[in-house]
Order: sequence, then C-alpha cells, then structure tokens
Amino acid sequence: MEIFNNIQSARKHFRTLDGVSVGFIPTMGALHAGHLSLVRRAAAENDIVAASIFINPAQFNDANDFENYPRKFDTDISLLEAFEVDVLLTPEVEDMFPDKYNYQVSENKESKILEGLYRPRHFDGVLTVVLKLLNIVHPGKAYFGEKDWQQLKLIQGMAKALFLDTEIIACPTIREKDGLAMSSRNILLDKDELKRAAKFHQILSEKTTPEAKTTTLEKAGFKVDYIEEREGRILGAVRLGKVRLIDNEQIWENQKSNTNL
Ligand code: PAJ
Repeated sequence: MEIFNNIQSARKHFRTLDGVSVGFIPTMGALHAGHLSLVRRAAAENDIVAASIFINPAQFNDANDFENYPRKFDTDISLLEAFEVDVLLTPEVEDMFPDKYNYQVSENKESKILEGLYRPRHFDGVLTVVLKLLNIVHPGKAYFGEKDWQQLKLIQGMAKALFLDTEIIACPTIREKDGLAMSSRNILLDKDELKRAAKFHQILSEKTTPEAKTTTLEKAGFKVDYIEEREGRILGAVRLGKVRLIDNEQIWENQKSNTNL
C-alpha cells in the first residue's frame, strides 16, 4: 500500500493512473467492519482501491467530540493493508485547508434538518471535505455507508448539483450481532452502555410510531435528539452517556414526506 501524506504528491500519482478504474473510500479512521465492507465492494468493482483517513475538524461542531474521536492509525494501516488497499491518503489539516476554510460547500435545505438541526454546519464541513478529497483522487466511484443516511443523500445531491464525475455508491449498514450499527464511536461506550446500545436499533425497527419509539427509548435510558420518518425510512439520533449514536432503517411501508430525504 502506498501512503500519501502530501496532497500534491497524491494528486500527481492519481493523474498518472490513466485508463485504470479507481474506487475510493473516504474515512475518519478507527476502522471497523462497516468501513471494510466498503473497501471490499470497491475492490470487487475497480482496478485500484484508494482510501483516506482524515479526521475533519470542519465537520465537528463540538470541540470535545473532535478531541475524543478515536485515533487508531497503526491498526488502521494494518487493516487496510490486509484488505489490499492500494493507496492511502492521510493529509494534514493545514494542507487540506490552505484557505483556512474560507471556501466552503454549503447546502441550504436538506442539511438543515435532522442531524443538521443538532449539529449546525456539520454537513457543510462534510461536503467541503468530500469534494476536496474527490478532487484529489478523481475516482470513478466513491463508496459511502447507508448508516449515515443523511450524509449519503447530501453527497449524492452534491455530486448531481455540481456535475461531479464520480459515481456515489451506497452500501448497506453493517451491524453487530445484536443489531447495533457499527461505528467508530462505539469504542467510547463502556461495557454496560455497549450492551444497552443494542436496544436503539431494536426499538427503531419496531412497528410503532416515532412518538412511541421516543418514549420507549427514554425508558431504556437514552436521551433522544430526534426520531423521525422520512420517505419510508425511520431516522434517529440518541445519546447514551457521553456517546451520540445515529441509525436509520427502512420501515414497513412508504410514508409521505415533504422532503427529498
Ligand atoms: P466515517 O464515520 O469514518 O465513515 C466512513 C464511511 O464509512 C462513511 O461512508 C460511513 O457511512 C461508512 N460507515 C460507517 N459505519 C458504517 C457501517 N456500520 N456500515 C456501513 N458503512 C459504514 O462518514 C465519515 O467518516 C465522514 O463524514 C467522511 C465521509 C469521511 C467525511 O469526512
């Protein structure tokens, strides 16, 4: 695996790959089976697999969350090597934002609801960094998880709105045996919280109203940020101790919605 810390060297490298299909998986590291399912899919569909690890300060609206975000660089490298990733991009914050984040991609509708209400400017940070990464790598396909449903929809929306050449591929959510969606933040849960966290997906998947789910979740010890139905999908965010969890699931029948999510 070739590792590029330097953005200009990475750009040069990707420019030389004429006639070779590149599949790209952007990540913030602390890799788990969810990330690796994206890698596997990219490997099956492309000549070359590229990944990035970049903990993007622009998408954190809470300094503590940024500080505490798990950093597992050495194990990440071993995992990516074991999964035969060809190129890894690990840029520095100063190099990713030579303009000090003066130039930004902003979305003015779908990024303002659900997660966007609780994490103002979060999606602008995500979209800006994803666009930068796509401009460095120029992949034919880039892979994103349905676990972050709103993020996936916004990235697809950006690709369409800005005429990006990269195809955005949606990949299913990978879960623990008990249903908990895999997430880098799960390692911040203590043993007891980890056990209780499985209830989130179980309750989210029940055939009940969002209001009933909220009540059941609160009884189970979760603080609920939101539980909402959009276009046949139930989306939710809860807090368990200091850790915030998000998840979503297709529901039993399509529901009318006034957004495109
Ligand atoms: P990160 O949370 O590291 O996730 C990287 C990719 O893995 C995202 O597309 C995410 O949806 C996917 N993913 C995470 N958990 C998953 C699971 N359990 N099953 C399937 N896919 C999963 O999402 C980000 O990083 C960042 O916002 C990023 C897109 C890299 C921009 O900074």
